[in-house]
Amino acid sequence: MLTRRNFFKKILGLTILGSGISSLSKCSQNHSNLREIRMAKPPDNLNKKEYLTLQYAAMAPSGHNTQPWQIEIREPGKWLLLFDKSRQLPAIDPNNRELMLSLGAFLGNLKLAAKSINIDVSIAKIFSKSSGNKVAKLELKQNKPNETDHLTEIKSRRTHKNGILNKDIKPEDFRYITNNSEDINYISNNSKEGRILQELTIEANRLQVNRDEAQLELSNWIRWSQKKIRKFRDGLNPNSMGMKGIIKWYASHFFSKKTVMSKSFRKSTLKMVRKQVENCGGWLIITSPNYKPESLLNTGIEFEKMCLKTIKKKIAIHPMSQILEEKTKEKVNSLLNIDQPIQFIIRTGYLNKYKKPVSIRRPVEWFIINS
Ligand SMILES: Cc1cc2nc3c(=O)[nH]c(=O)nc-3n(C[C@H](O)[C@H](O)[C@H](O)COP(=O)(O)O)c2cc1C
Repeated sequence: MLTRRNFFKKILGLTILGSGISSLSKCSQNHSNLREIRMAKPPDNLNKKEYLTLQYAAMAPSGHNTQPWQIEIREPGKWLLLFDKSRQLPAIDPNNRELMLSLGAFLGNLKLAAKSINIDVSIAKIFSKSSGNKVAKLELKQNKPNETDHLTEIKSRRTHKNGILNKDIKPEDFRYITNNSEDINYISNNSKEGRILQELTIEANRLQVNRDEAQLELSNWIRWSQKKIRKFRDGLNPNSMGMKGIIKWYASHFFSKKTVMSKSFRKSTLKMVRKQVENCGGWLIITSPNYKPESLLNTGIEFEKMCLKTIKKKIAIHPMSQILEEKTKEKVNSLLNIDQPIQFIIRTGYLNKYKKPVSIRRPVEWFIINS
């Protein structure tokens, strides 16, 4: 007899990359309103253009989709960027390295979106690590009309975990997406270094799924049901974790924090990671000169710029940060023969189709504060 318990076990036994049963998958695949651009009246201390700019900035990627940004409106055109202390990830990101990269991606979007509607955003000051949760002072000025329009790209960008083809990125496409940056390297999955990255990613994930505090932290950032997705408008969800078909349907109805802590969930995560690392064209490795706030913010900005350029080329971006979050961090540089600090390890490759985003965002009203 297929009891609920057996069914649950069976589901977990299957890879969560599992094949799609489209009728079921459509039940919870409502993409509307995930990244809403609201034309409604802005909050009192923002004009329409500033409100729009912040909505686009918030489309930025962030670790576990915590969306750790906060904007304090000090006076018209003078903003303070902070991080939200309740959105830190102490178990996997104790030094706020990934948090600063995410804020960099937010700043990258903010600058490009503002430019697209003729506003110039300059970074007047970057705070040191000892300044609590203050990150940067921003100044906004009206600019002359220009040809820039990044709004559609910003709204379309997403992380892809499925459907990555086993074909290397062409050198000309690599040069296009990286704008010839010296901080970004490409490693083919078929090279010796590619195999090292596969092995290290599996090892790092094994270490991480066995670390209860990391798994608990993850469980706190997964919104399994539609109700929770709509309530919190952040975190990971079955779609953004790459689940499909009956597995996604089952997960969104029956999975909970407890599921994430179970042996079978941890085991199926590793099974999925093994499949993922075998299926891609290669890896993008992004380095930075050091770990100072300015350096991390700049790397985040460059990362976001690169992500936006991948859309036209149908290139997938799937950061796999576990190597940098676990003890494996200590050996990755020497194994890859890279001197500078590695900030992003990204699984990449071509896609048949650049799909629509599936991860939700919080509205501007939820992340602005008045001084
Ligand atoms: C600094 C950073 C680290 C990330 N690390 C991972 C990771 O290890 N694994 C993963 O699947 N996604 C990772 N991501 C992608 C986020 O999960 C993703 O951006 C977020 O869920 C929002 O989804 P979106 O990019 O489709 O908008 C990372 C993103 C950033 C900015």
